[in-house]
Amino acid sequence: MFLVTGATGGLGRRIVRSLREQERSVRAFVRLTARYGELEHRGAELFIGDLRRERDIQRACQGVEYVISAHGSNELSGGAEAIDYRANVELIDAAKAAEVRHFVYISVLGADRGYEDSPVFKAKWAVEQYLRASGLSYTILRPAGFASNLLPLAEQFRQTGVYLLVGDPKARTSIVSTDDLARLAAEAVFVEGARDQVLAVGGPEVLERGEIPRIFGELFNRSPVVVNPPLLLVDGVRSLVNVVNPDAGQGLGTLRSLLANEFFCTAAEVTRLENLFQFQLESLGHFLRRYLSV
Ligand SMILES: NC(=O)c1ccc[n+]([C@@H]2O[C@H](COP(=O)([O-])OP(=O)(O)OC[C@H]3O[C@@H](n4cnc5c(N)ncnc54)[C@H](OP(=O)(O)O)[C@@H]3O)[C@@H](O)[C@H]2O)c1
Repeated sequence: MFLVTGATGGLGRRIVRSLREQERSVRAFVRLTARYGELEHRGAELFIGDLRRERDIQRACQGVEYVISAHGSNELSGGAEAIDYRANVELIDAAKAAEVRHFVYISVLGADRGYEDSPVFKAKWAVEQYLRASGLSYTILRPAGFASNLLPLAEQFRQTGVYLLVGDPKARTSIVSTDDLARLAAEAVFVEGARDQVLAVGGPEVLERGEIPRIFGELFNRSPVVVNPPLLLVDGVRSLVNVVNPDAGQGLGTLRSLLANEFFCTAAEVTRLENLFQFQLESLGHFLRRYLSV
């Protein structure tokens, strides 16, 4: 039995889908208020709880062989300490007590770079250290940005031709197909070479962020109008938000770290993943074409 946290999220529901396609038994940790119909429909067992409650985490781990931690706080919710850090530490403790055989943790590319300004990056790094010291068998996946994040932006672009690009258009990224990442997470427990490894996960091409509107333009056959405010805009918004809501202001530190830095995998890292998992990662263009029917 797999336990998947964040099972209603962009990544988590794809992990559940991938596991159910392999007919694996899955317990999906969901909140009562979440949209979990699809998970139920696919034959996942639902565990209704809240990751802010340790007791729920302990109960969810009972009888489980594998845990995939795919939950996350919302950037603006200011919940990184409770959700990204504490819930994972409690999940690791509960997995250990339940004698779980393998723990897959979704971290983030750059977790080891010491972005002190970002509560999420700090939490991910601390959880990685905690998991590695736990004695559990583990795989840590450090993904770049998810391709599925771009779907609403692509839809907007289809309507308007406008693309908002904050910060340096030359900054490099290797956006990963969210479906590929889900497959890696689901299969990691069975891949010997992924045991006790920290794996950077990115798509097969390194793109400059400025190439994304070009890809949209090609998909929809229209010239992109790129609105490109400087990063200072985020700093300005952040100073204002800080006055009204310091937690949300802190959360914006994560957004700033994401916009101010490069997140890409080397060709060697991509080849390593493809060799370990024996499949080819898909490009951003391929992912978008599948979802947008273009
Ligand atoms: N998106 C990216 O580009 C990206 C890049 C690198 C790493 N990551 C990491 O990948 C993971 C998955 O990201 P995602 O984009 O799929 O996240 P997401 O769509 O925002 O989903 C977050 C999930 O966590 C659940 N959750 C939040 N608080 C909870 C609570 N108190 N109790 C129970 N469940 C709770 C949410 O449940 P509800 O549906 O009830 O809200 C949802 O299922 C996260 O750890 C994220 O940091 C994301």
